[in-house]
Amino acid sequence: MTGGGPARVRVALAEAGYDVVVGRGLIASLGALCAAAGLRPTRVHVFEDVGVSERVRNAAVESLEARHVTRSEHRLAERTKSIVTLEDMLVSLAQAKVERSDLVVSLGGGVLGDVAGLAAGLHRRGVRVVQCPTTLLAMVDASVGGKTGVNLRASIDDTPVLLKNAVGVFHQPSLVVADVDVLESLPPRELRCGLAECIKHAVIAGPTGWGMLDLARLAGAMPALLGGDRTAMVRLVEQNVQLKAGVVEGDEREMASGDAPGRRALNLGHTFAHAIEACESTRVVVEGEPRHPQHGEAVGLGLIAAAALGEHAGALSAERRGAMTRAISAAGLPTTLQRGVDAATLISAMRQDKKASGGRLRLVMPTSQGVSMLDDPGDATLTRAWSAVIGG
Ligand code: GLY
Repeated sequence: MTGGGPARVRVALAEAGYDVVVGRGLIASLGALCAAAGLRPTRVHVFEDVGVSERVRNAAVESLEARHVTRSEHRLAERTKSIVTLEDMLVSLAQAKVERSDLVVSLGGGVLGDVAGLAAGLHRRGVRVVQCPTTLLAMVDASVGGKTGVNLRASIDDTPVLLKNAVGVFHQPSLVVADVDVLESLPPRELRCGLAECIKHAVIAGPTGWGMLDLARLAGAMPALLGGDRTAMVRLVEQNVQLKAGVVEGDEREMASGDAPGRRALNLGHTFAHAIEACESTRVVVEGEPRHPQHGEAVGLGLIAAAALGEHAGALSAERRGAMTRAISAAGLPTTLQRGVDAATLISAMRQDKKASGGRLRLVMPTSQGVSMLDDPGDATLTRAWSAVIGG
């Protein structure tokens, strides 16, 4: 960050790069930021997350200088991240008469951004989208990189499963505006969920991770971050976006194969996490209550299980595994799943993951140097990894 102004991270892609602007009080300048990025549409449609305060939503809309601004509100959760919601959004864009040269703005968390991004990618075969993430998780991960999608519910082999992000397209945003001031009203649980993705990035960065991408420094900064230190938060978001931008630039469409992880690195802990989310009986204790884990909580547990796998394979030192666990604990994320689900059920859910091929897994494994790919290690090893999180 320079001279007190917002930080800018460039996502330099072959076809169309874009900036991620990170700072404080940016939402009220959204229109000016769009214009500075060369976005001067006739119409703008804003998809708004009802979880975002009206003050923030109105400030965003008022700042837009387009002649026609339309808006629609959406209450989104994993349960409603569906084709039905996608259709609602597509209908809104049609009713708003949004044309190819117009603009869609997504103002909300990662789930809204994923579905709004998909609607923008499909409407008239693609209209530009500006992502304004309002959760930490969306700022450091979901809003950057152009992945969009909705979930599918299906009964597979007589087991009802939620197939996460099973339907989607790559549709890169034209601009991302991350205003950390909007995190002031974010529930602490949501903040902790975003920190799980930051820990994932620090593991990917490896032992040479700089600033907030150093696991020990990140763990040490948790009290400040959870306590609302906005300067630390801007730094956290900026450095995490830098890490993610570098990974996406190297492998925009996740086409890396073989041993080089490419963008697959960002799936670290996620095959475990998606299995936890897919099994509706899973519970973690959050704020003293047993609850079905949110995505970030499942990612924290997935990182712990993946770390057990890495150490078992001799790729991850006990010291680095300990640093991962300490960071997850310092973020106040759950480190165990409550009894009630067994490893066999979770392994079966893992094998339904969209990254599995013919039921065989290809996992991202943390190593002492960063991450590497691991071929399906088999049920016995997976059971052992799961035992690191299935507890009391
Ligand atoms: N969230 C994983 C990715 O963007 O590839």
